[in-house]
Amino acid sequence: MHKYKIGLFGFGCVGQGLYEALEKNDRVNAEIVKIGVKTPGKERPLPAELFAYDPGEILENDDIDLVVELIDDADKAFSIVKEALKRKKPVVSANKKMVAENLAELIALQKRYETPLLYEGAVCGSIPVIKTLEDYYALEQVKEIKGIFNGSTNYILTKVIEENKSYDEALHAAQVNGFAETDPTLDVEGYDPKYKLGIVLQHTFGIYVHPNDIFNQGIQNITKSDIAFARERGLKIKLLAKATRQGNNISAFVAPHFVSKESPLYHVENEYNAVLVDGDFAAEQLLLGKGAGKLPTGLAVLSDVVSITRGYHYRPSELHNDLSFEPSTEEVYVSFESNETLDFNAFKHITEKYVGKKTGYVIGQIDIPALKNLLDENNANVIFTSGAKAETEIHKLAYSYEIG
Ligand code: HSE
Repeated sequence: MHKYKIGLFGFGCVGQGLYEALEKNDRVNAEIVKIGVKTPGKERPLPAELFAYDPGEILENDDIDLVVELIDDADKAFSIVKEALKRKKPVVSANKKMVAENLAELIALQKRYETPLLYEGAVCGSIPVIKTLEDYYALEQVKEIKGIFNGSTNYILTKVIEENKSYDEALHAAQVNGFAETDPTLDVEGYDPKYKLGIVLQHTFGIYVHPNDIFNQGIQNITKSDIAFARERGLKIKLLAKATRQGNNISAFVAPHFVSKESPLYHVENEYNAVLVDGDFAAEQLLLGKGAGKLPTGLAVLSDVVSITRGYHYRPSELHNDLSFEPSTEEVYVSFESNETLDFNAFKHITEKYVGKKTGYVIGQIDIPALKNLLDENNANVIFTSGAKAETEIHKLAYSYEIG
């Protein structure tokens, strides 16, 4: 039986996880024969002859019949993936930024060169999200898909809010544990989950939305007052990615949300991710697992390698010309320092407003573009409540008191 020869690009956290997962597994019909890295002379745990510094050593090598791309740089990754597909070498990648930003072109390249690209490891670590959407949900009308798509921020929120650790300490631990991106602002400002959400939109609804068109707010502006507000009401704050279909409109965003005990997402802590899919037939289902880390993500990549050896590819994307991507109106809590002059007219409807000596908040309904303007122009933070179809129905809980 043909044994696949893998050319691996990148030997960081996930690359080493893949190597280890493959080493510990004698049922995979593939071996890593070359590892492309950028820095010569660095001490590495494997024989020097396994490493290459010129991408051509892998891409132009006819003996290598599968490329695994696990580097940090999204632009370089895209060049590698394009070249591999052109040379009809199937590719496995875990680079969510590269996939999200170039998905339309990547789909076209796969069709043109009849060569597959799989990227399960790009979305929520070890949770088989893409395959589940592709295969299990192929015949389902998904109404909503949402969840915790970033392990680092969930870890930080758990440590800071539940365990009273400092933000810096929690971020450092997320980095040491290999959860965070090399540039952790991608995690804490909500870009990383946005890339994942973009990929999920394609596989759930068949539409491609560039990440620049998706609203993202991270956890970086959450204040002590916000945390006090949540605690007083028995709520947690979770960074959620969410996509909803209403008729022919799709909306999607990443933002911190108040989450109440009744939601399964309330109980998801540390680096765990969770994806809640709501469909016409199956109703709600929860996928839960480790969303980051060396071996969980290494396993997701290894699973794609095995899928390639079995001839698996994603369904050719069907064009959904009837669906359009529209910004939604959301119910949000916006907190601010009392000396800020917030334009309350940006809200379509205000249900509660409180301005104390130091801090204030307003709860109301607002269009996403107006919210973006408000946050760009003011020193303010937003936490979504989701209104009636609730993470929480905030009105039932809200009461005023001096915070901060
Ligand atoms: N930085 C990412 C996270 C890694 O924390 O979720 C997994 O994609």
